[in-house]
Amino acid sequence: MAVISLKHVLVAVALVSSAAQAFPAYGSLAGLSERDFKFAMSTLKPRMPAPAPGPLRFDGPKLAEDKEHPFKPMKMDDLRGPCPGLNTLAAHGYLPRNGVATPAQIIQASMDGFNMENNLARFTTYAAHLLDGNVVTDLLSIGAKTPKTGPDPDTGALVAGLRNHGTFEGDASVTRADAFFGDNFSFNETLFDQFVDFSERFGNGFYNYTVAAELRFHRVQQGIAENPHFSFVGFRHLTAYAEVTFPVNMFIDGRRTGFERLQLDMQTAETFFKDNRFPRGFHRSEKPSGTEGLVEIFSAHPTQPGRNAGAVDTFTVDDSLGDVGSANGFCSIYTGLANVTIPSLYPNPTGVLRRNLITNLQFLFDGLPKQSNCTQIFPFGSM
Ligand code: HEM
Repeated sequence: MAVISLKHVLVAVALVSSAAQAFPAYGSLAGLSERDFKFAMSTLKPRMPAPAPGPLRFDGPKLAEDKEHPFKPMKMDDLRGPCPGLNTLAAHGYLPRNGVATPAQIIQASMDGFNMENNLARFTTYAAHLLDGNVVTDLLSIGAKTPKTGPDPDTGALVAGLRNHGTFEGDASVTRADAFFGDNFSFNETLFDQFVDFSERFGNGFYNYTVAAELRFHRVQQGIAENPHFSFVGFRHLTAYAEVTFPVNMFIDGRRTGFERLQLDMQTAETFFKDNRFPRGFHRSEKPSGTEGLVEIFSAHPTQPGRNAGAVDTFTVDDSLGDVGSANGFCSIYTGLANVTIPSLYPNPTGVLRRNLITNLQFLFDGLPKQSNCTQIFPFGSM
């Protein structure tokens, strides 16, 4: 019989407790107590935020699943979340397959794989990073392994990445359920059936801007009628409209032309939303693409930002964090993020945390569309 010495036991205990206590490199530092923050900083390796990549040199259509980017099924420890675009990029190795990446990698991958427009990729990614990432290590996770989304009991870290509810991820998604109903990140078959039904009724079997307008509005009405905690404020008021344009602008093969270029068939939609993979032979968009169609979709059924007050059908308007339908919609959302949401996550940052927050906020501002003509906000001062 093997003899287990005291030394072996002590080494095993030390290994287990240090593994349990190391602060995850991609865990968010938002809202940590002073004690948890000190602990986190003692275990993390700070990094200067890498500069944001610029636009693609060749920005035409290109085979997505090429030799360097084969689809591979998820492994046990891989992290996935609510974004079918990022999940697909990780499954094909445009992003690290484990789902943990730097903002610069996410921007580059969104451009390389889908031809996402550079400014939009930057604005979206730095917003996500400031809301859900670890700004000290410069790492963000596109999802999580367990359904748990609260703080980790050992370290206080929020390890849900983009699954974290109420920061970036929000209500009224078209293929994911509201967090109130439990799972806010997995592909939801019932909601996808609704996506197909709307595409049949309003798009002759295809998803297009007309379908997007009807479905976006319907999901908001559904939330108000069914989710007592339905929330549709600030940044979510923008992303909810932006995300319904993406399947038309970036899930359709970039070699299509004319009318066909804007009609997404249901098999392709399912391959992205459910399987998180590029259809065989798929070519990315023919030009850098973003939120084309947003104004048309919003104008078909304008909404105001707001939330239910703890009971269904109690929607109350709240535009304090911006309103995508206002005169300078994009700018009002940026202002809400930079003036209120992000400073509330980091009330008194100092040292490297403050330095990296300032740098990432600069990157966020630089990602705004040029025509937005926004006043820059410096909630943490400048360097
Ligand atoms: C650039 C970095 C990106 C970030 C940080 C990001 C993040 C997210 C997040 C957090 C969500 C969940 C929001 C919610 O519905 O509650 C989401 C949804 C979505 N994303 Fe992304 N995304 C990015 C790029 C992309 C790209 C390149 C595509 C497609 C080509 C894409 C397509 C979508 C779609 C279609 C949804 C809506 C899912 C639904 O409503 O069911 N995203 N994204």
